[in-house]
Amino acid sequence: MMKMEGKTALVSGGASGLGEATVRHLAAREAQVLIMDLDDERGSAIAAELGPSVAFWQTDITSTADVTAALDFARQRFPRIDIVVNCAGIAPGAKLASKKGPHDLDLFKRTLEVNVVGPFNVMRLAAVQMVANELNDEEGRGVIINTASIAAFDGQVGQAAYAASKAALVGLTLPVARDLANEGIRICTIAPGLYQTPMMAGLAEPVREALGKMVPFPSRLGKPEEFALLVQQIIENPMLNGETIRLDGALRLAPK
Ligand SMILES: NC(=O)c1ccc[n+]([C@@H]2O[C@H](COP(=O)([O-])OP(=O)(O)OC[C@H]3O[C@@H](n4cnc5c(N)ncnc54)[C@H](O)[C@@H]3O)[C@@H](O)[C@H]2O)c1
Repeated sequence: MMKMEGKTALVSGGASGLGEATVRHLAAREAQVLIMDLDDERGSAIAAELGPSVAFWQTDITSTADVTAALDFARQRFPRIDIVVNCAGIAPGAKLASKKGPHDLDLFKRTLEVNVVGPFNVMRLAAVQMVANELNDEEGRGVIINTASIAAFDGQVGQAAYAASKAALVGLTLPVARDLANEGIRICTIAPGLYQTPMMAGLAEPVREALGKMVPFPSRLGKPEEFALLVQQIIENPMLNGETIRLDGALRLAPK
């Protein structure tokens, strides 16, 4: 079993929502955390609030220069990198074709860039460092967790780009587990249902309430801490590898 105490985790998107809850959860269990996020203000504030075991590095995860700089910083600050949790992502909505015209191609590309290329970039650069970790027979050399969405499986109207990006993360989970098996590094993907985060805050309260009622049980939006609990279980349970786990209260999204 991999213990969280004393480990170092990189959390992309750690300045908000599911990522922030993960940062808080890990820090409360004595892990060291580097928040990698675009949002300088929130990222710095969370790091300052949580103390010296949590640091922030302003990072665009799609940029190799940014992620390399973040990893260099992490190496100076912490002994090694054990855990990568990719939460950064965007969720634009647009139909393939509508009266307004065809789906904006740059929007499609941007969605794939942030949601797939970004986490891939973080994984590939962090994994090079993780494979150099001393092997611990019980714990391996590390664990990677990506955040997809149930939209990868039942994407709604207007979610072609988002669903495609999240399905890509689901698709790479097994081959990356196979790539890293000899190195003792595991990977799992979490596919959350609907969660109460700033990503959802744009919606009016009655809409959010209606969304919560769509969930069979518990009939509400998920709490970000419930996402962080699964992150903990994936870190700790050595048999979780190469799998995507839905965390959705049995929700299956309707077409719209
Ligand atoms: N909230 C939900 O209901 C829900 C459901 C399913 C999946 N998800 C997924 O979970 C993840 C987290 O969602 P959330 O609701 O916490 O969102 P959020 O908007 O609250 O947080 C996302 C964070 O990612 C950061 N970010 C965006 N682009 C970035 C980039 N290029 N580089 C670095 N940081 C970047 C943002 O600054 C922000 O802090 C996303 O990947 C999202 O698609 C969320």
